[in-house]
Amino acid sequence: MTESSASSAFADKFETLLRSRRATRVFDSAALPEPQVTRLLELSLEAPSGFNLQSRAIVRIDDPAVRAEVARAAGGQRQVIEAPLLLAFVGEPSGWREGGSLLADANLASGLWDTATAAERVAKMTDFQRKREEAGLSREFAIRDAMIAASFAMVTATALGWASSPMTGFDEQAVKEAIGAGETDIVVALLLAVGKPGENPPHPGRFPVEQRVYADRYRG
Ligand SMILES: Cc1cc2nc3c(=O)[nH]c(=O)nc-3n(C[C@H](O)[C@H](O)[C@H](O)COP(=O)(O)O)c2cc1C
Repeated sequence: MTESSASSAFADKFETLLRSRRATRVFDSAALPEPQVTRLLELSLEAPSGFNLQSRAIVRIDDPAVRAEVARAAGGQRQVIEAPLLLAFVGEPSGWREGGSLLADANLASGLWDTATAAERVAKMTDFQRKREEAGLSREFAIRDAMIAASFAMVTATALGWASSPMTGFDEQAVKEAIGAGETDIVVALLLAVGKPGENPPHPGRFPVEQRVYADRYRG
């Protein structure tokens, strides 16, 4: 196989994967193999984030009591209780306050940055994030970072032969309280139930590309 036919075969497979992912609300309750769950979590965190500050996190919710509280907060959606894996993707609007120095420490240790670069980058990103905060935009940007990680999780789950159920239908403060973050400013961007599918939902359709892609001017 040539390099270009191998990459085209990979693209075909990837296309099949993306097109076959379905929001699934019925799961087989069998536990997922732990090494694959770890893989899913690691690959979710491969998602990019602004300045690579990584101000997003995943809360894995296993405790049945916490699950029950989250399910109540999510209007009783069955997948919250029944899926073998439940993840909350959270954004950290204030993450930049410690993120800059955490990133500098990691990048100095790995040799990616020297001391001067670290000082310059941290000063720049701190200034940028402070202005965002003054403009009241930190929460919005934290959601963006968390959602990209959640997208990576959905695609990875499909690749592992699992299904997932993305959810924003929940009382955010109640979910925060359930996961012990009621007093913080974190944002719960998405709940994601994951497991082997117990149903096979049909493709719900998408509007044609011509209807949703514009050249140069929005709806121009
Ligand atoms: C941001 C977001 C929030 C969603 N919230 C819920 C939810 O709370 N409950 C639910 O059953 N499905 C939820 N969904 C699933 C959508 O209804 C589903 O993705 C959509 O109908 C398209 O179907 P598909 O994912 O199979 O292509 C959500 C999806 C997204 C992307």
